[in-house]
Formats: sequence, C-alpha cells, structure tokens
Amino acid sequence: MTRARPLLVFDSGVGGLSVFAAIRARLPAAPLVYVADRAGYPYGTKPAALIEARVPALLGRLAERFDPELIVIACNTASTIALDAVRGALDLPIVGTVPAIKPAAALSRTRTIGVLGTEATVRQPYVDRLAAEFAADCRVLRHGSAALVELAERKLRGEPGAPDDYREAMAGLFAQPGGDEVDTIVLACTHFPLVEEELAAAAPRPVAFVDGKEGIARRTAWLTRERAWPGEAPAPVALFTGPAAALDSYRPGLARFGLNRVETL
Ligand code: DGL
Repeated sequence: MTRARPLLVFDSGVGGLSVFAAIRARLPAAPLVYVADRAGYPYGTKPAALIEARVPALLGRLAERFDPELIVIACNTASTIALDAVRGALDLPIVGTVPAIKPAAALSRTRTIGVLGTEATVRQPYVDRLAAEFAADCRVLRHGSAALVELAERKLRGEPGAPDDYREAMAGLFAQPGGDEVDTIVLACTHFPLVEEELAAAAPRPVAFVDGKEGIARRTAWLTRERAWPGEAPAPVALFTGPAAALDSYRPGLARFGLNRVETL
C-alpha cells in the first residue's frame, strides 16, 4: 500500500496551530505535517521582498521532502505577500489565509471594523482590495502589532503575558479616529486566535472577533473530498526550521495540539 500524502500546514511560528487544529477537527484521518519557520520568524517585521523570496523557496524544499497532497499557508503575512509566487513555483494546490474582512463586515453594526495583523499584513494592497470589495460601507481601521505575535508565542511556551501587555498591544487600534466605534475585529494574523481570550479581556468594551480558520478548514476538506484516508491518521509531525535549542520550551504546548513528534529541518 502506498503511503498517504500528507497535508502540510505552514507558518512562521506557532500561529498556524490555530488553523491546524481546525483542519484536524474536520479531517481527523488526514496525515498532517506542521511546519514553523522559526529560523525566519517573525515575518511581520521583515521587508516584503524577503518574505516573497523566502517562502516559495522553503515550501519548494518542503514539497520535495514530504510530497504533500496540498499546502496550507496558515499565515496572513506570507499569504498576502507571497501567495502568487508560491502558486507560480509549485504545482500543487495551495490554500492561503485571507484576512476575514468579508465576514467581519457582515457582522458589524457600527460599520466600523478593526483589522489586527502584523505590520507587514496591514499595509498590503491585498487588504485595501478586500476592504474595497467587501467592506466599502465600513470604516476599516488597521493596526499591526509584533508584540501580540510574540505574546502568542510566549503563551504557547507556557509564559503567560500580563493583561496590560495585551491592552498596550491593542491600544493603537482603539486610539485611532473612530476607534471608539469598533465593534468587530478581524484577527488577521493566525497567532491571534491563540490569545483571543486575553484580547477579549483586554478590550475596552465587548467586541466580536472574527478569523478565517474555519473557512480554511472547509476549503481544505473540499479540495481533498475525494481522498479516502485509511482508518486512523498517523501521528502528526511538527517541524521547526530551527534553532533546535528552542524546541524544548515548545514541546508541552505542541503536545496540546496532538503534536508529540517534533523535529528540526
Ligand atoms: N502568523 C503570522 C500571520 O498570520 C505571522 C507572524 C509573524 O511571523 O510575524 O501573519
């Protein structure tokens, strides 16, 4: 019997685990590989040209090694910058992560939505296009925070941040003109659903949070609908591009996502 080709879920760090969990829940028999480009982390503070070169090259190496059925780029920064380059370079289905502006606009009563992402994501023309197409009658306020990405990484390593850290990381969104009207926030970085509870507690008033992980899981299930995976899935593997020394602090957090096999590239 030939070995089933895995689905590869990719991010700069642990943020993509929010997407990985949604895919695993929907496709419990699918073989999964999770890859964190820790050697390239963080993406959100890096120049777009660097991400646009690095991500297709790395995914090309990973495609050779794992022969995946499909790749999910579980990272808004990499998707908004490098999705076309990856699709041009690789001959297999690529599912990207798009900031969930459309569902947020459908939900907002005040017609003022916040987009919380990395600094790189919130300045992408891709976000302008989504806002123009799906939220033309909304005020769309954007805020990029590298601190929030790092807070999510720390949480997974078992180092919880203080409520003030979260308040500070979000302050730049609510302080903008119209910030007091925001009732819906797009979590436009896959790290942020991992700290959604902390964000909700730190927000100055109740707001709705929207992200794209369920949509990505649905899309992945649709693209693999003809695949009959045999019985139980093999234990999923996590791969970090480095450094090996950092791995131990992540192991307990990864285990909570079913990732007990952790390797470095
Ligand atoms: N998780 C990533 C995203 O969705 C980026 C985090 C980072 O590396 O800055 O944008």
